[in-house]
Amino acid sequence: MDYAPAKFHKSARELAEPGGAFAYTPEHQAKFDANVKCYPPDQRRSAILFALYLAQRQQGYVTAAAMRHVAEQIGCTPAEVEDVVSYYTMFFTKPVGTYVLNVCRTLSCALRGAERVTAALSAELGITPGETDPTGTFTLIEVECLGACDRAPVVMVNDDWHECLAPEDVRRLVEDLRTRGPAALTGCHLHKEKAAEATS
Ligand code: FES
Repeated sequence: MDYAPAKFHKSARELAEPGGAFAYTPEHQAKFDANVKCYPPDQRRSAILFALYLAQRQQGYVTAAAMRHVAEQIGCTPAEVEDVVSYYTMFFTKPVGTYVLNVCRTLSCALRGAERVTAALSAELGITPGETDPTGTFTLIEVECLGACDRAPVVMVNDDWHECLAPEDVRRLVEDLRTRGPAALTGCHLHKEKAAEATS
């Protein structure tokens, strides 16, 4: 009897970088301890997103060592932590730029020109989605709905929403980040500026 050769599908999943020893700073440990108290003692794992957010805040991305630390804090296995990390696009397992530009590509933003915003950012930064510029300042990625569909197109810069963004706004956004740094991250400022312009 002829047997067809077995076909194996190689998973595209990559192992997380091991990273050096990791533990929360005292400040982050205090924040975690305060947050986890919001949940019943038998549901500590409900704090997993906040625990990972703190780890990423601390070292810029989440290494395997950080996942083990989070697992200890939460009371679950490192594999369960890795499942969460690999599900959410806001967690990074490799180094990223100082500013991560997340362009929403879901329907409302797509209909309002998100592709042109991505193209304008690519041209301004000289990188394509998924890349970091050579200076390590900007990473450009495309993500799914950011929950501000009524103000499409939306670009989230780190934790900061920039809404109603047109391709011609991109240069100003990038220049603002280059010249003012974190001070440029003031929350939804383009929407506010445009609203102010409309009423002036
Ligand atoms: S579709 Fe872009 S924020 Fe919802």
